[in-house]
Amino acid sequence: MRILIEKNYEKMSRRAAQIIASQVTMQPESVLGLATGSTPVGMYKNLVEMFRMGELSFKNVSSFNLDEYIGLNHKHPQSYKAFMDSQLFDHVDIGADQVHIPCGMAEDVNMECLAYEKAIESLGGIDLQVLGIGHNGHIGFNEPGSSFEARTHMVDLDAVTIQANARFFDDVDQVPRQAISMGIKTIMKSRKVMLLASGKDKAEIIQKMVHGPITPSVPASILQLHQDLILVLDEEAASLLAGGEGLYDTA
Ligand code: F6R
Repeated sequence: MRILIEKNYEKMSRRAAQIIASQVTMQPESVLGLATGSTPVGMYKNLVEMFRMGELSFKNVSSFNLDEYIGLNHKHPQSYKAFMDSQLFDHVDIGADQVHIPCGMAEDVNMECLAYEKAIESLGGIDLQVLGIGHNGHIGFNEPGSSFEARTHMVDLDAVTIQANARFFDDVDQVPRQAISMGIKTIMKSRKVMLLASGKDKAEIIQKMVHGPITPSVPASILQLHQDLILVLDEEAASLLAGGEGLYDTA
């Protein structure tokens, strides 16, 4: 595990975008795994900026998002597809057919999950998976107690997650109760994983994820076993990590 600690959210976002840009520059046909949520917003802004400056092209990139709510179609303003369009896809040169997000309106959700896994495999697997982390340690929508063996599947959202996501809806009752999510096994199979976290409110879960036992009650703790994991944190999110001169890359 490599841990990069940046001064603040802006610097963390810039650093994360640079890591994606290096990946895409070295391997223009990269398969990226992407996340939604508040944390990667600054990273997407930086990527759009790099594209506008002519420094980066997504022409040959394919992407797979981690998750989508069940019951929202891709045009719904709170769907993860709409989020990705507005934050990234509408502003760069990635083709519509290169972008993959589970369909929350699928009639047969199990078939949709299987097809999603197949699509990832058919493109050779994910080269770089971007993750955020929930306050309860979830990654994607793999909530505490999720199996480490799961592939893309349907999940019931945890009460903590429903509350946390209510900020994007008019009221908590509108937050969908279920989602389709890549499973932990799907995530662990990615060749590289980059997890981003920012703010004091993430410090405790980052500390548990890095220094705590590997347990399904903290789903992100399994990442301790990933061979190529990079954490990009701001100082607040890193504030409860055990110290040690030279232990982490700081900027
Ligand atoms: C998003 C996702 C979630 C978020 C997590 C953190 O696609 O899968 O696991 O990464 O809930 O969300 P924020 O960044 O809003 O704190």
